[in-house]
Amino acid sequence: MKYSLLLLLNLLFLTALSQPASPIVIQTKNASLVFTVGKNHRVYQSYLGSQLANTEYEKLSGGQEAYLTAGMENLFEPAIRVVHADGNPSLELTYASHTASQQGNVTTTRIILKDSVYQVEVVLQYTAYFNEDVITASATIQHHEKKPVRLTHYASTMLHFNADKYWLTQFHGEWAREAQQVDEQLTNGVKNIESKLGTRADFYQTPTFFLSLNNPSTETSGELIAGTLAWTGNFQFTFEVDQRNQLRVRPGINPYASDYTLKPGELFTTPDFIFTYSNQGKGQASRNLHHWARNYAVLDGNGPRLTLLNNWEATYFNFNEDKLVELFDGAKQLGVDMFLLDDGWFGNAFPRNDDKAGLGDWQENKTKLPNGIGHLVNEAGKKGIKFGIWLEPEMVNPKSELYQKHPDWILRLPNRAENLSRNQLVLDLTNPAVQNFVFGIVDSLLTKNPGVAYIKWDCNRPMSNTYSPYLKENQSHLFIEYTHSFYKVLDRIRAKYPHLPIMLCSGGGGRTDYGALKYFTEFWPSDNTDGLERVFIQWGYSYFFPANTIAAHITSMGKGQSLKFRTDVAMSAKLGYDIRVNEMTPQELQFSQESVKNYKQLSDVIWYGDLYRLISPYEENRSVLMYVNDQKSKAVLFNYNLTTRRKDLFTKVQLQGLDPKKNYRFREINLFPGTKSTNPDNDKVFTGEYLMTIGLNLTPGRVLPLTSNIYSLNGE
Ligand code: DGJ
Repeated sequence: MKYSLLLLLNLLFLTALSQPASPIVIQTKNASLVFTVGKNHRVYQSYLGSQLANTEYEKLSGGQEAYLTAGMENLFEPAIRVVHADGNPSLELTYASHTASQQGNVTTTRIILKDSVYQVEVVLQYTAYFNEDVITASATIQHHEKKPVRLTHYASTMLHFNADKYWLTQFHGEWAREAQQVDEQLTNGVKNIESKLGTRADFYQTPTFFLSLNNPSTETSGELIAGTLAWTGNFQFTFEVDQRNQLRVRPGINPYASDYTLKPGELFTTPDFIFTYSNQGKGQASRNLHHWARNYAVLDGNGPRLTLLNNWEATYFNFNEDKLVELFDGAKQLGVDMFLLDDGWFGNAFPRNDDKAGLGDWQENKTKLPNGIGHLVNEAGKKGIKFGIWLEPEMVNPKSELYQKHPDWILRLPNRAENLSRNQLVLDLTNPAVQNFVFGIVDSLLTKNPGVAYIKWDCNRPMSNTYSPYLKENQSHLFIEYTHSFYKVLDRIRAKYPHLPIMLCSGGGGRTDYGALKYFTEFWPSDNTDGLERVFIQWGYSYFFPANTIAAHITSMGKGQSLKFRTDVAMSAKLGYDIRVNEMTPQELQFSQESVKNYKQLSDVIWYGDLYRLISPYEENRSVLMYVNDQKSKAVLFNYNLTTRRKDLFTKVQLQGLDPKKNYRFREINLFPGTKSTNPDNDKVFTGEYLMTIGLNLTPGRVLPLTSNIYSLNGE
């Protein structure tokens, strides 16, 4: 009798522990994600949508199991699959406890799940950024079995939807054609958007998506989530629509060739999946992400950026000290902050005169730079500009001293021919000696030349025929450990050089994710700097990344495009130049000087303001976007006419984001010398209400292809 009473009390205690009194609510300003615990103690996602009154959450129950396991009754894609030490592949996760802690705007909720048969524990972590309306989700997996277990699936989270229809927007592409928007309706079955490329992971696919519910969303209407993964490596977003039209979204590291052996007591933490819910279309979702990114995710997200002149397109590998010092004059004349020396400055035994040799040998080439980097930094300083430099520290050319000295530092199959891409191989960053080497490249450069003000960090090939001499029998850890090692090196760099601006580049936009942007101030979206192409490429990235992270350089690419068109396109993101200034006509130079001045005046609005996309280049033969500052006192409007034809007629454009009650002076700026605005509304004052309801004709008269206008709106 005594024993049964004890047992009963014990059971009641366990039930109380494994059943929270109220639903678990993850809440932001306008949205909430709610979990409840069922009678079987499993955790269910009971709600994801716009915020409700608190009393409503109490009525919720049921839904879809939050973090679906494998090996038992789940017949669909699992969030997690574990093969235990005894070979058993089953897992049942039930609620153990949860905690929530708040620090100002940020609340972190941790839900602890356990298996009752095997000693496996999963912590689902949700961090809600209240004002930004953004939630990040990750999972930490741990076990206390006697021997290691094998993880074959380890999603960051799982989200469930139950709508009539689902529309997916992804950003697909390749070299020189990055981030092209593709929309489709999801049908039954599985759709993956993913990467298996390792180093240059986002080469074909940006790790971002919109999922619209019921109807395709527009910029200003529709219910959707926008999602992205903070991971500089293989990623996967799985969308599975089942036989009942329910959708599961499974974001995370791509488990392809990446079974992970987890030792007892070791923690496996997934990268954050970042998402925002909006019932006001893509524009709002995008602005939420921009706010979050600047406040929490990008290195110095609210800090200033340097305008620059890069020599890559101007000289490629063909330069010497005198030529560079001459180019500094170009930077000075333009009025930009910095000169950026690109590829080709290093290697002696194997001089880097093209992309076939020298990579890995990070000593100044004595013929090209007899007085070293220090001399260039000083010369730049004398001309009143800063000096930045290009590195590609993770790679090696077979024609290099590094390759000869450290053959065991290279990722390649021991028994097969090397598979070169751009004549180079990837270093085995999982090896701590290689991590020291990579850190040392940056550290010795900056120690010897403390005046270096900026780095462009390149990465020009994906992984293929990959094998790590360091990981030996643990090859299935390679993709994951490579990314962890990349972060380890960056942690060391940032501990010593916390604010040095570094551009993330990967042969164009091969690395564009928030895992990396924690360490980088900006990224290079594409080697394609043709103005027309950039309208589309920058449009794609701009949904998920704020303007101060999107490097946009004016080059001589772009057949038939005026310097004005190319400049106006670059000015809508983070402006730079990669051009021969000495080949500009006097008028072009004057125009560029004025553009840099205008940009500097407007950059606060562009970098930190709210972006409103007014006309999509995918919908019309033009593209219009605007930025508005926080106080709604200043705005800037970019209008691009694309490959327009004689009969293209463009209607008035209604602006967005202004204060309806304020008066704004509308003025065309950045005009080419000797030209005047042809807009009859130029220099007139309008109320915000007029501009947002009636709108303005931005291209009066005949619309010429590849032309553009920038208009400023100043509150009076
Ligand atoms: C690829 C980058 O995208 C270019 O901007 C340039 O830095 C080259 N690499 C240099 O090799």
